[in-house]
Formats: sequence, C-alpha cells, structure tokens
Amino acid sequence: MRFLVTGSAGLVGRQVVKDLLPSYPHVYSCYHASKPETGTATHLDLSSPESIIRVVESVKPDVIIHLAALTNVDQCETDRDMATKLNVKSTAILSEQAAKHNAFLLYVSTDYVFDGKTGMKKETDRTDPVDYYGKSKLEGERAVQEIASSWCIARTSTPYGIHPKKKSFPLFVAENLQAKAPLDIVTDQYTSPTYVPNLSRMLIEVSSRKIQGIIHLAGATRISRYEMAEIVAEKLHLDKKLLRPTSIAAMNWTAKRPNDSSLDVSKAASLLKEKPVTVKQGLDLFIQELEQKPN
Ligand SMILES: NC(=O)c1ccc[n+]([C@@H]2O[C@H](COP(=O)([O-])OP(=O)(O)OC[C@H]3O[C@@H](n4cnc5c(N)ncnc54)[C@H](OP(=O)(O)O)[C@@H]3O)[C@@H](O)[C@H]2O)c1
Repeated sequence: MRFLVTGSAGLVGRQVVKDLLPSYPHVYSCYHASKPETGTATHLDLSSPESIIRVVESVKPDVIIHLAALTNVDQCETDRDMATKLNVKSTAILSEQAAKHNAFLLYVSTDYVFDGKTGMKKETDRTDPVDYYGKSKLEGERAVQEIASSWCIARTSTPYGIHPKKKSFPLFVAENLQAKAPLDIVTDQYTSPTYVPNLSRMLIEVSSRKIQGIIHLAGATRISRYEMAEIVAEKLHLDKKLLRPTSIAAMNWTAKRPNDSSLDVSKAASLLKEKPVTVKQGLDLFIQELEQKPN
C-alpha cells in the first residue's frame, strides 16, 4: 500500500509516518514549511488546488491520511479566509482526488465540532461548533462525506506527545513547575486527552483496514485541564500548589472554547485492536518517553 500523509511534520503526522514505515515502505510525507525527518518528503501547498492535484497524480496513493490543517484555534477566528482555504477547500479537493484515484481518505477531525455543553459525545451526536476552527473542520467533514467515495472521519481531542517544536500540555506544565513558576490552569474545560503514539496506531489500523464512517479516536478519560495538570505534578513529584485554578472566561482567548468536548470512544474500543488508553496510562508512557529522550 502507498500512503500519502499530509501534515507529516506536525505533532500527530510525525508519529504516524514514523510508525507506518516499518510495515509500509511507500510513505510519502507531505510538508509545506517544515521538512519531515522520515518518509519520502513531498512538498504540498494545501492553499493551491494545482499543488494538491499534482501531488496526488504523481504519488497515486492507496491511502491518504489527511492531518494538515490550520490548527491554531485563535488564528482560525481572526483569519477565517485562511481557515476556510486550509481546512475546507483543500479537504474538498483532496476528496475529489481520492475519489478519482480510488484512494481511501482518512480525514482527521476534532472534538471542537461539538458545542461542549455536554460531553462524552458519540459519533452519531449532533454537531454544533462554537468557534470558527470547529466550523471549518466540520465543513471539511461534510466535504469528505459528500465527495470522497471511500473514507473515514476520525475525531480526536487534545493530542499530547513529544515533538521537536510543539510543546504539549503535560510538558508545558512539567517545565513550568520544575522552574517553580505559578501556572493558571482552567478548571472548566473538559476534553479526552489523547496520547499521540496511541492515536497514531489507531489511525494506522483504521486506514490499513479501511474502516469506513465516523469514529472517535481519543483517550479513554474525560478530564479537565486542571485535573490533568495535577496528575502531571503528582507523577513527577512537583509542587501542585503552584497550579492556580482559573476559568475559560478569565483567559481572554480570542475564540470561544467548548466547555466539555470529551468524546465517547466505545466504538473504537470495541472495533480496534489498538484500544484508547486512559490519561494515567498515557501520561506514564509519555513520561517514560521523555526520560529516554536524549537532551
Ligand atoms: N492539536 C490539537 O489540539 C487537535 C485536536 C483535535 C484535532 N486535531 C486535528 O488533528 C490534526 C493534526 O493536528 P496536529 O496537532 O498534528 O497539527 P499541527 O502539529 O499543527 O500540524 C499541522 C500541519 O499542517 C501543515 N500545514 C499547514 N499549512 C499547510 C499548507 N498550506 N500546506 C500543506 N500543509 C500545511 C503543517 O505543515 P508545515 O509545518 O510544513 O507548514 C503542519 O505539519 C489536524 O487536522 C487537527 O485539526 C488537533
């Protein structure tokens, strides 16, 4: 199977390419600004339809894992044209190309497609995003459903893992607490934090088995940001008293945030060999990985 991975140098994409390679030698890692370390580096500009068409025509993939997006929630709010271009239009063109070349399209979407009034959302629950990032990703989902012929939409939630440039939430907490810096952390935002290597293996299983439809691929625990920070402090024996409880309203973020965007992952748990892990399991693995990482 030939895999084309967009966003291959991003937080999730970097791990996916690394995990695909031992089993699949033909992995085309698409990038825009940051060249990926592994796979066949393939330049792709999602804001250019010609670039998307050219890349798919030349690679002729069997599977496309579409991870690239404008993921900065506040930037999506202020630069809606760019969010529409990268999250909606490029997804529609990629869907057309997938259909034309009989490729399976796995589109990675977000927990932010829900309004967050109540959590633990199932795949069949009503979507109603509160911010432009969520709206643009939902429009991307609709394009996939309408245009692609063989597809899966995998919604995930607050991924965390090791990345050379992106600092995941647990590492941000750990570094601040190690520096004895007080940290304001929201108590009223609940998600399903997802350990990136676990997500990567679930994405690879879904795409290699060509599982169709919508599936929630996220961590198995619904938890607030504050509670997660407390667990990080406990596991690393850092001073929990430096964590200062605050609220979404006090954060002055540009875009609105859903209060509870946790996802029900029972479909993934029953269907996949790679099961969603709990936040405690994920953090243990994350800390082990950090300890093994050369400085
Ligand atoms: N991070 C989250 O909290 C979260 C939560 C739920 C769902 N998701 C979804 O999960 C997926 C992966 O997220 P992530 O955190 O791994 O993202 P990320 O680290 O922000 O990476 C985004 C990727 O998009 C690529 N990209 C941006 N503009 C591009 C363009 N014009 N042409 C081609 N590529 C472009 C970037 O490539 P360059 O660096 O080369 O520009 C980058 O590799 C996304 O679809 C996101 O919506 C993320």
